[in-house]
Amino acid sequence: MINRTLIILKPDAIQRNLVGEIISRIEKKGLKITAMKMVLLSRERAEKLYEIHRDKKFFNDLVNYITSGPVIAMIVEGNDVINVVRKLMGKTNGAEAEPGTIRGDYSTSIEKNLIHGSDSEESFKREMPVFFTEEEIIKYTKIDENWIK
Ligand code: RTP
Ligand code: MG
Repeated sequence: MINRTLIILKPDAIQRNLVGEIISRIEKKGLKITAMKMVLLSRERAEKLYEIHRDKKFFNDLVNYITSGPVIAMIVEGNDVINVVRKLMGKTNGAEAEPGTIRGDYSTSIEKNLIHGSDSEESFKREMPVFFTEEEIIKYTKIDENWIK
């Protein structure tokens, strides 16, 4: 079983020129990017992505935020990758996230927190088709794989 997750660099990551910094952390951790694209989400796609939050009071703000500019979506693979990426991200609220995490180092906001990562296998399966078809996930070998796994 390949361990995969969906990462989204949210509109603030692009506006604040943090794309390279965040991708660099993902690369340096030894994770493997197997798909990547820039997307300007429609309201419909954003609502599908965040359908589990439909009843939350922040839902409308969240959809406005995620559709406010382009995002970069990625499929990333690696050992226990869902948990590894959640740890790299840090807590949802940037003001509470630990220094050393992406949110802890670059965000103080509960909403504009730079990055999304699937929180479970089930969420991944639901979220992935919002951005990618199975054919768009590229199978390839990286020369450092034997040094990482
Ligand atoms: P994500 O889904 O984006 O990876 O983030 P998460 O699991 O850490 O947080 P979640 O509870 O799933 O919330 C999804 C996103 O909604 C925004 N949010 N706003 N205003 C608020 O109280 C509030 N709470 C959450 C954040 O952008 C959060 O990442
Ligand atoms: Mg979440």
